[in-house]
Amino acid sequence: MEVTFLTGGGRRTVQAREGSTVLEALREAGCELAAPCGGQGRCGKCTVYIDGQPALACRTVCREGMTVRLPDVSPLAVELGEGAARPDPGQTGFGVACDVGTTTVACQLVDMVSGRVLASLGEASRQRTYGADVISRIRASTDGHRPALTAAVRDQLAGMLRALCEQAGAALADVHTMACVGNPTMCHLLAGLAPDAIGAAPFAPVSYFGETVDAASLDMPFAGTVYIAPAVSGYVGGDVAAGLLAVGMDRAEEPWLYIDVGTNGEMALGRGERILCCSAAAGPAFEGDRIKCGMAAANGAVTGVTYEDGGLRLDVIGGGEALGLCGSGLIDAAAVMLDMGVLDKTGRLLGIEDDVPPRARPYLCQVDGENAFRLAERVYVTQSDVRALQLGKGAVAAGIQVLRRTAGDPPIARLLLAGGFGSYIRPESAARIGLIPADLLAVTEAAGNAALRGAVMALVPADARTRLARLRDRMAYVELSGLAAFSGAYLRAMDFPG
Ligand code: FES
Repeated sequence: MEVTFLTGGGRRTVQAREGSTVLEALREAGCELAAPCGGQGRCGKCTVYIDGQPALACRTVCREGMTVRLPDVSPLAVELGEGAARPDPGQTGFGVACDVGTTTVACQLVDMVSGRVLASLGEASRQRTYGADVISRIRASTDGHRPALTAAVRDQLAGMLRALCEQAGAALADVHTMACVGNPTMCHLLAGLAPDAIGAAPFAPVSYFGETVDAASLDMPFAGTVYIAPAVSGYVGGDVAAGLLAVGMDRAEEPWLYIDVGTNGEMALGRGERILCCSAAAGPAFEGDRIKCGMAAANGAVTGVTYEDGGLRLDVIGGGEALGLCGSGLIDAAAVMLDMGVLDKTGRLLGIEDDVPPRARPYLCQVDGENAFRLAERVYVTQSDVRALQLGKGAVAAGIQVLRRTAGDPPIARLLLAGGFGSYIRPESAARIGLIPADLLAVTEAAGNAALRGAVMALVPADARTRLARLRDRMAYVELSGLAAFSGAYLRAMDFPG
């Protein structure tokens, strides 16, 4: 049957299978629509418009002649940072470094002679139509979508490589090497391997990577090789190892703590010879998914909130109207709500009928029967959003506690917050809500996209790849699931500091 999709600037009619949902028809037509919960009808983020009425694409069955309007998508603002490979007179041509994230794919084209980054590009993952987190992707793979997931990531990397060459005026024929970092699930899908075993205990990956393969074997449009950085476990991948390489943790003389927060919070604690690491399922809150007004770090996203001179001040990407809230904005908002006395230690958001300070009253409202805190005309934080944040921050904080205890509670000289989210986050707010330990606030700094910088370094094989292999061997993985110390710490860490 025929179904027509309308976007801001275009129209496309496709053949949909009898009984298929709008989301399935979109996927089969190669169109993208974010489906953070993987099409289970839970997140409400796959909203499309049929005859002017909102409907969930994953729950709506196609009808002959149906016309579906898709939401407009803003371009992603991705913090790429400047990487630099070590100049090597023995090198020629160009290399491409890729951070293949669950949410975002970021790539840089590098001049292999000078080591300079010539062009950068960040895009939302084309796999997001199969869910926002690795568990949804694994489920999709198990359900028979693995070939489509693999094709999506390979096509995306190939397309981004072509775009980077065009941007820099470089010839594709002069590209001869690619270095990819990512979590183990994304690397499995890129390599065409089944990530299914990562989804259940003992969470063992099929491959730990750390090897070089022929570019053609991954459908890359250049003659040369692709290196995939080594993973430590099913949930701590080459992106973490590359991040540690970029910040120089393998050469640190005092213990450092490295945290990369996304749908999973990956953490590493140690120095030089011995580094403990773990991964805690932080859930979707930090990526803005399953948050009522949540969105990615794109134009219109509130990245920061402060209370100044008797009013709220919002930082909005692009400087225009606030359209939604990304992870760092949610953390800031919660910190402001705690300071204003409208959020208690247990996470209860007070309502207008409660005894609240007068300065907070104008911001309190009800949304769908829930207490909410209004930040802007179209942006608010609901009680359920606070609960999602508590789950996420509790998992990360408990992971940090377990790592510190397992390491013998050493004094920590630096706390590095990595990832695009880590670049926006205000350390004071992260400490205020208990995401990071208050005693480390003075040594906390943003590390930017360290994983991508590590990928750039790994383009030059000799030194960086040896260091990455050594890093992997020195990293000891702590499995948090089933650990009583973690469950206890998690329950306590869901509360906000008093
Ligand atoms: S509600 Fe449709 S993808 Fe989540």
